[in-house]
Amino acid sequence: MHIIDEKIKNYLEVNRDKDTHQLILKGSPFKDIPIDFLIDQINARKRLAKKLPSWVNIDEIIFPPQINLEQTSSEATAKYKSKLLTGKKLIDLTGGFGIDSFHFAQYFQQVFHVEINTDLIQLAAHNAQLMNISNIRFINENSIDYLKNITYKTDCIYIDPSRRDVNKTKVFQLSDCTPDSIENWDLLASKTHQLLLKTSPFLDLKLGLKELKQVNEIHIVSVKNEVKELLWLVDFRKPSKTTIPKLKCVDLNGSKTSTFEGDFTLEKQATTTYSNPQKYLYEPMSTIMKSGMFNWVGEFYKLDKLAPHTHLFTSQNYLENFSGKVFEITEVMDYKTKLIKKRLKSMKLNVVKKNFPILVKDLIQKFKIQEGGEDFVFFTTCGGKKIVILCKRII
Ligand SMILES: C[S@@+](CC[C@H](N)C(=O)[O-])C[C@H]1O[C@@H](n2cnc3c(N)ncnc32)[C@H](O)[C@@H]1O
Repeated sequence: MHIIDEKIKNYLEVNRDKDTHQLILKGSPFKDIPIDFLIDQINARKRLAKKLPSWVNIDEIIFPPQINLEQTSSEATAKYKSKLLTGKKLIDLTGGFGIDSFHFAQYFQQVFHVEINTDLIQLAAHNAQLMNISNIRFINENSIDYLKNITYKTDCIYIDPSRRDVNKTKVFQLSDCTPDSIENWDLLASKTHQLLLKTSPFLDLKLGLKELKQVNEIHIVSVKNEVKELLWLVDFRKPSKTTIPKLKCVDLNGSKTSTFEGDFTLEKQATTTYSNPQKYLYEPMSTIMKSGMFNWVGEFYKLDKLAPHTHLFTSQNYLENFSGKVFEITEVMDYKTKLIKKRLKSMKLNVVKKNFPILVKDLIQKFKIQEGGEDFVFFTTCGGKKIVILCKRII
């Protein structure tokens, strides 16, 4: 492991905005430091300013290569997760670079950070020291072996498995991830009271529920409306199969957190009313779309839906605190090419399509729309007809 001393700090400072290809060609100015290491540090500081703001601001933090960084959680999601579990001892079975375990360490007396990759765990331990975190024990071992050997039951286990296969290609099915939680389910149940499992946002919720039998809550977490993590919370102390898992949709946007809750039974039983666009248009946040609670969200907020497969809602009166985007409708038109061409030509608009057969890029081209500005146009389907809605976003 290479420490970031004064000479490296200076190099990173001087070269932080330089073209890294040129820097690679020049090579490392230090005999004992490979250029790859220096480039990893420059790239990480550039790319992670939003994902890990506090980390990139500490000069001495050592970052691993890009492939390891892609797999780390963001500070925002790590902070959110750290408050989902309670107890004194937590074992992180896939410690990695340590973003999650460092956040858990703020709430637990003792965190055990288990990681199979020796280089990575060395960096994590070094960085913990820099950040004055002293309640994490770093264990460089296969976590399944580690778990088999512990003789006690811990309060919580957290797993954020590797979602890369042997060829380093991304995978998202549970059984393709390592370690495999399904294969080791009984072992996990015998060693912890609570389990939090992070999976790819692309995993199908119903498929995940079939494989993970005792889930109490699923948290669907987005950052600025981009779904980042699915979190499966299991409490092994609760009798299995007695509860319907809660679906918690969460968007983290700086200091603002938007939430919406429901479950699959509420969704199944929800009554939906339909209507043509009225004065306001509502687009649920992306975590709600991921949850599949398209009807429950309408019933909960008492909004009319545009059509069974058009997950947009409408109302005559303005509804505050909707979990998603709200627009004021200015015009609704039938989708007639000539009419739309004339009306939209050269307008500056944000284009959205929902339940509509043409791609956004093709719509932009077809109607010669300039992208951007304050106003929005929705291409969608309502009452069996293709329609176009012009509207303004309400902040
Ligand atoms: C997605 S990353 C975890 C990232 C971490 N949560 C963070 O925020 O930095 C998964 C990590 O699990 C480690 N891993 C995979 N299989 C393991 C095993 N059987 N035992 C211990 N670590 C393992 C990988 O080396 C990788 O660093």
